[in-house]
Amino acid sequence: MAQLVAGIGTSHVPAIGMALDTGKTAEPYWKPLFAGYEFTKAWLAREKPDVIILVYNDHANAFSMDIVPTFALGCAAEYQPADEGWGARPVPVVKGDPELAWHLAESLILDEFDITIVNKMDVDHGLTVPLSLMFGQPPAWPCKVIPLAVNVIQYPPPTGRRCYALGQAIRRAVEAFGPERRVVIAGTGGLSHQIQGQRAGLINSAWDHAFLDQITNDPETLARIPHVDYVREAGSEGIEMVMWLVMRGALDARVKELHRFYHVPASNTAVGHIVLENA
Ligand code: DHB
Ligand code: FE
Repeated sequence: MAQLVAGIGTSHVPAIGMALDTGKTAEPYWKPLFAGYEFTKAWLAREKPDVIILVYNDHANAFSMDIVPTFALGCAAEYQPADEGWGARPVPVVKGDPELAWHLAESLILDEFDITIVNKMDVDHGLTVPLSLMFGQPPAWPCKVIPLAVNVIQYPPPTGRRCYALGQAIRRAVEAFGPERRVVIAGTGGLSHQIQGQRAGLINSAWDHAFLDQITNDPETLARIPHVDYVREAGSEGIEMVMWLVMRGALDARVKELHRFYHVPASNTAVGHIVLENA
């Protein structure tokens, strides 16, 4: 039987990928950031998940603004790193898990979540930067990945409540899958940041810390926060944080917080990271 063992939340700042890919991780600006992920790298190496369901957003790379799916589930056997304008990141190809992904698609759609099925797409920094933070720079990623792309770039994105409910449906689907799998789910994006307009550079650490407290201890209340609160408090790109609620919805009501890290800044963003284990 498949088992959903843990959830990970992490930012996905593209400059983190740049720092890794150009050998800058030991520089004073970056060193404390990468130190915050050492726990998780060691924990994952012990935990050895078979597959990570990676909830992220595409930044108009795989999907142009022509078509903007709200929830898009990758059912392919593999995904190439996207060229975001300066060449693809030099990271391994991402291997999918079509058997589990198709099961998820069927289970979620019959559970009345209108998921877009994706048979081919490139994956941008939203997906590859979290993989790099979790696994470093291996010659091949050590587990399979099922990408779940959430629209948070074109208004209206899904509500936090819908994201949380989707996470709960993913949990049901995983546990109804017969073959053995150790599954980890990751929610990415955030924390507070705004990369455009008059408030560019906005960071709200008090709000971010409260978000991290609630993602662990009170996700039901957190799931009721409306979009306008994210945008006002955490900046226009802070809305990415709703994706963490998909991750949290897939976990137990009570979880064990194994690790938490918060760091300001990386590029224009407050970096948040958490590891939550089911009881
Ligand atoms: C930055 C952060 C993001 O989440 C993103 O998608 C692009 C840029 C930044 O801080 O530079
Ligand atoms: Fe982003």
